[in-house]
Amino acid sequence: MPNSSRSGAIAATVKIAAGADRSHYDAASIVLHWATVVLVVLLFALAEVWDFLPRPERHLLIVAHMSFGIILTAVIIARIAWRLTPGHQVRPAVTGWVELAAKSVHYVLYGLLAAQALLGFAIRWSGENPKAMSFFGLLIPSPFGPSSKALHELFEQTHDWLAWAIIIIAAGHALAALYHQYVLKDDVLRRMLPEGHARQSGRTAPRP
Ligand code: HEM
Ligand code: HEM
Repeated sequence: MPNSSRSGAIAATVKIAAGADRSHYDAASIVLHWATVVLVVLLFALAEVWDFLPRPERHLLIVAHMSFGIILTAVIIARIAWRLTPGHQVRPAVTGWVELAAKSVHYVLYGLLAAQALLGFAIRWSGENPKAMSFFGLLIPSPFGPSSKALHELFEQTHDWLAWAIIIIAAGHALAALYHQYVLKDDVLRRMLPEGHARQSGRTAPRP
C-alpha cells in the first residue's frame, strides 16, 4: 500500500475509534448507560425480594432501594443533560421506521425512568403521615404536609406498574441490540461498548 493511502487509512481508523464520525457513543454516555442498567436491575430485584423477608431485613432492603434510587435519579439527570449538550449525539445506526421505533423506545425509557424517580420521592413524601427519604441513613424529610391515603396508594401502584413496564421494555430493547449484533451482524451493540471493543472488531455501524 502506498504511504499516503496507508496514513489515510490509519487516520480514518483513529477517527472512527475515537467516535469522531459520531457512529460510536462517547465514554461518558457509555458509563451512564451501563450504570443505569445495573441500577435498574438492582432496584427491581430489591423491590421484588423485600416482601419475602422479616421486618429488620426488609427495612434494610427498602433503605438500599431508596439510596440507590437517589443515585439512579442523579445518573438519569446527568445522562439527559449530557445528551442535550450539543456535540454529544450519535448518528442513527438504522434508517426509516426502524430508526423511528428505536428512537421511540429510547425516549419512552427516558420518560419512564424520570417518572419512576419522581414517584419514588412522591411515595415517601405523601400520605397521612409522610416519611423521610433515606440516603444510606441520611434522612431527607418531606417538604410537604400530609395528604390523602388514596394519593399515596396511587403513587405506590403507579411506581409498581412502571417498574414492570421499564423491565419489559428494557428487555425488548436489549434483545433488539443482541439481534442486531448476532443476527444482523451490524455492530450496533459495539456503539455502546468501550472503544477497545469497537477497535478490535475493525468495523463500525453502517452509515445512514
Ligand atoms: C429512580 C429512582 C427510584 C426511587 C427514588 C425509588 C423509591 C422507592 C420508594 C421510596 C419505594 C417505597 C418503599 C417503601 O417505603 O415501602 C419504592 C418501591 C418500589 N420500587 Fe422504587 N424507586 C426508584 C426506582 C425504581 C425502579 C427503577 C424500579 C424498578 C424498575 C423500582 C421498583 C419499585 C417497586 C416494585 C416498589 C414496590 C412498590 C409497591 O409494592 O408498592 N423503583 N421505590
Ligand atoms: C434497564 C435496562 C436498559 C435501559 C433503561 C436502557 C436504556 C437505553 C437508552 C435510553 C438508550 C438511548 C441512548 C441515547 O441515545 O441517548 C440506549 C441505547 C442503547 N442500549 Fe440500552 N438500556 C438498557 C439495557 C441495555 C442492554 C441490556 C443492552 C445490551 C444487550 C443495551 C444496548 C444498547 C445499545 C447497543 C444502545 C445504542 C443503540 C443505538 O446505537 O441506537 N441496553 N439504552
